[in-house]
Amino acid sequence: MSKLVSIRGAVTASDNKQSITNAAVRLADRLYFKNGITDNDVVSVYFTVTPDLTAYSAARAVRESGHNVPFMSGVEPVVDGGLKGCIRMMITAYSDNPARHVYLNGARALRGDIAGNYAIALDGPSGAGKSTVAKLVADALKITYLDTGALYRALGLKCLNEKVDTTNAQAVENCLKDAKVDIEYVNGAQRVMLDGDDVSGKIRTPEVSMAASVTSAMPYVRAKLLGIQREIATNSSVILDGRDIGTVVLPNAEFKFFLTASAEVRAKRRFDELTAKGQSVVYDDVYNDVVQRDKNDSTRAVAPLKQAFDAELVDSDDMTAEQVAAFIVARVSGDVQ
Ligand code: DC
Repeated sequence: MSKLVSIRGAVTASDNKQSITNAAVRLADRLYFKNGITDNDVVSVYFTVTPDLTAYSAARAVRESGHNVPFMSGVEPVVDGGLKGCIRMMITAYSDNPARHVYLNGARALRGDIAGNYAIALDGPSGAGKSTVAKLVADALKITYLDTGALYRALGLKCLNEKVDTTNAQAVENCLKDAKVDIEYVNGAQRVMLDGDDVSGKIRTPEVSMAASVTSAMPYVRAKLLGIQREIATNSSVILDGRDIGTVVLPNAEFKFFLTASAEVRAKRRFDELTAKGQSVVYDDVYNDVVQRDKNDSTRAVAPLKQAFDAELVDSDDMTAEQVAAFIVARVSGDVQ
């Protein structure tokens, strides 16, 4: 039975038309999406903006983005210590669920009490530096990090251990049917458990990389790992890195980034990483692996590597992991418009 609910949200913007439009439309999209509502459910929408946002009307921007409901807008009185450049929305709507409020960018600080958990989706090709960046971001924001590639690697390892032909989807499914993959956090670090054993150290070999790349294209494998990824994301604020986080696993993540770099730069990083771990590898092999995995990951039929339409592209060719992490932290904290 639908009930009338008041759904609240806020976002910060700079005082120019583009920024106000982007922020207001994004906030409206999130509010509708998170609450599973359409214009048909909405009774009215009320906007307020702080007096420093004069370049454009947030309500008008949302109306121009295609919404056709009764809008009302007003300017807020200045509040001591209040956020600057803030757009607030209150939607009155019929919904089957309790209201899910949305606070984006710096507005999160405003209502940490009702903002709830948030998710950062960090997708991109192998070797783009996702896991290094994700760890730095998680540390800085004190949120949980989930390296989803490790889950696929654990299943790839199981196939290798059992000498299964990884190109045979039925054989892979039979092998993995009873496999139990789990994540544990020990002193803040992620450990991957396969059938009760900690395999975190064993999943970082080129053989496991290739097995995971092949088996992760199989619908059975993806379906098996979807639940655990979503469960971790609903229990706390998280950053997940992977290939399809923003498109499939968490399509309503509050923040989405697509991190990339050229194949040469990525191969060099992977080469340095493996060499530092004492593995003897040849650069050309690592480069060919990167190219091959890119091809596997982006051409597969199920959940291919793809930038979500609402993800922000970050090219890290000329950026250190620290710089990428600082950019994401600033974006999430609302310091970058
Ligand atoms: O990020 P990684 O190299 O640890 O990932 C290992 C493999 O798993 C990679 O080839 C792509 C796949 N993968 C995936 O398909 N979806 C994810 N969310 C994460 C990884």
